[in-house]
Amino acid sequence: TQDDRAYRRLRFPKTSRRLPQAIIIGVRKGGTRALLEMLFLHKSVQKANGEVHFFDRDDNYERGLDWYRRRMPYSFPNQITIEKSPSYFVTPEVPERIKAMNSSIKLLLILRDPVIRAISDYTQLHSNPLANRSSRSFEQLVVKPDGTVNTNYRPVSVSTYHNHVYRWLDVFPREQLFVVNGDRLITNPVSELNRIETFLGLEHRINADNFYFNRTKGFYCLRYGPVDKCLKETKGRKHPDVRPSVVAKLREHFGQHNQKLYDVLGQDFGWPE
Ligand code: A3P
Repeated sequence: TQDDRAYRRLRFPKTSRRLPQAIIIGVRKGGTRALLEMLFLHKSVQKANGEVHFFDRDDNYERGLDWYRRRMPYSFPNQITIEKSPSYFVTPEVPERIKAMNSSIKLLLILRDPVIRAISDYTQLHSNPLANRSSRSFEQLVVKPDGTVNTNYRPVSVSTYHNHVYRWLDVFPREQLFVVNGDRLITNPVSELNRIETFLGLEHRINADNFYFNRTKGFYCLRYGPVDKCLKETKGRKHPDVRPSVVAKLREHFGQHNQKLYDVLGQDFGWPE
């Protein structure tokens, strides 16, 4: 079929498609693409193209593990395969489904300051001006007419991280979940990546030579040998200026939720209150 042809690529001898040994489960707008591309700097890492959405979409899940495996890249036996699908984090069925595939899988979750993440989420949702001609401001969507925070607004509920983390820790031991500091991945990627190399059981290979700061973009870009690569322009978008009183209201709202997250993870991110 056409599908099979698309996946029949040139390959080295001794390589095969393997199920992932590690999955980036989210969070949406946390820096999931940056994390996957940065890990791919390591010669012992192979990455799936795009987002596979196997565990969160019933129609894909019903196709079975062999369909999933065929979405994975060719890898050598000493390499690990990683895929990322950010909606895994917030989809209730996913933890059990992943466990049924591999109960000792390594899970990577990248989190950022929940207020910034919510603004980033809004920015992405409203990034198509044609589809959102009459789009409402972030302030209008996030604060209800009675002045309280609209917890039903998706960018708010997704940023309420502890509500989702509980479901993962009901299914997986804490040691199998590594929570990446997404704010630090932006400002100091090497230190964060070195910690992840340890978690994944990889030699420390990623170093400062793999990065250069791009002033125009305002972010680090990646160096794969002689090849330089910045993430696409959809990564590192300009955010709208949100009214300071609304930011303050959100910070206050998230204060207690963040504390619950720090408690359940045993990890304090020190997000501003
Ligand atoms: P913004 O575009 O709102 O700044 P995801 O890939 O999960 O959608 O996350 C997108 C976010 O990754 C971006 O959100 C950006 O802040 C962050 N990011 C982290 N490191 C980056 C890098 N080196 N280049 C571009 N964006 C990066």
